Amino acid sequence: MRQPVILITGANGEIGHGLVEHFGRNGDHGVVALDLKPMDERLDALCTASITGDILDDNLLKRLISEYEIHAIYHLAALLSTRSEYTPDTAHKVNVNGTLNLLELAAEQSRWHGQPVKFLFPSSIAAYGLPDLATKTEAGAVREDQWAAPKTMYGCNKLYCEQLGRYYTRHYRQLAADRAPSGVDFRAIRFPGLISAVTMPSGGTSDYAPEMIHAAARGESYACFVPEHAQIPFMAMPDAIKSLVQLSAAPAEALQRGVYNVNAFSITAGQVRDWVVEAFPNGKITFEPDAPRVAIVDSWPAEVNDDPARRDWGWKPDYDLARAFDEYLLPTIRSFYHR
Ligand code: SER
Repeated sequence: MRQPVILITGANGEIGHGLVEHFGRNGDHGVVALDLKPMDERLDALCTASITGDILDDNLLKRLISEYEIHAIYHLAALLSTRSEYTPDTAHKVNVNGTLNLLELAAEQSRWHGQPVKFLFPSSIAAYGLPDLATKTEAGAVREDQWAAPKTMYGCNKLYCEQLGRYYTRHYRQLAADRAPSGVDFRAIRFPGLISAVTMPSGGTSDYAPEMIHAAARGESYACFVPEHAQIPFMAMPDAIKSLVQLSAAPAEALQRGVYNVNAFSITAGQVRDWVVEAFPNGKITFEPDAPRVAIVDSWPAEVNDDPARRDWGWKPDYDLARAFDEYLLPTIRSFYHR
């Protein structure tokens, strides 16, 4: 008998850490963790299996089908926005072909065990593309169906994969005589910039906020690559994990869309700096804007509207700005660096 599990790809990344912790301790099924890098030892202990490998490796994915009965996939593996600009073709392969491989795997799994396979996909504010700063300021809180004209390869990849997910869930093989639903139950969240107290992002463009905070906590100086007035929405990592768990648990009939914004708080880089210098007086923050990366941040909304998530699956963040910094980041980062 194959073992019933959930599969988490990119499990060693920032969101992966939180999800493995959550499902490793509370889940109904075991966790199979897949990542290019070997799993953190601490997380490894929580997993049924940790596999070091590539989502583009067909043989590896086939082996997963033969060994496990997969009931949900949290497909986190991706190249983030800054890294993707250096190697757009590789980004496309990993972010799009990789997602297609996992959607196929989900459909195949569903055919075997006859139940829907939930497919949770972290999309991003990078799926938006506002043409200029004036429009961004005027736009206010952007809804899911507005300004979806991304300027980055990563944003294009995320937006297209949202559509792929919708196709697999609603229109799969629509011309086949033996047409049957794919069995893939695709649900996506467009995340704001995420800030974790215990992991560091790599290769993203919203990374300036977590980089600033962690550098100061270590007593180091940091040159921020966007100007003080740059503003995008952010979220504390525990809320990101909560949103994925909550959306996954929502009854399918309640979901009027496949893709949801989630909002927590929106801040400028200057506001992050103000908090950081107060919390960690040894850190020194300067601003040295890097025009191309600033342009990417300027194309992302300053705020997002998350009414559909609140309405359909009861979304509400636990951490507003004050709680995120004072009750999560400050105490957790302090103990993290003083272990
Ligand atoms: N945080 C991501 C990035 O900066 C956006 O989803 O690439």
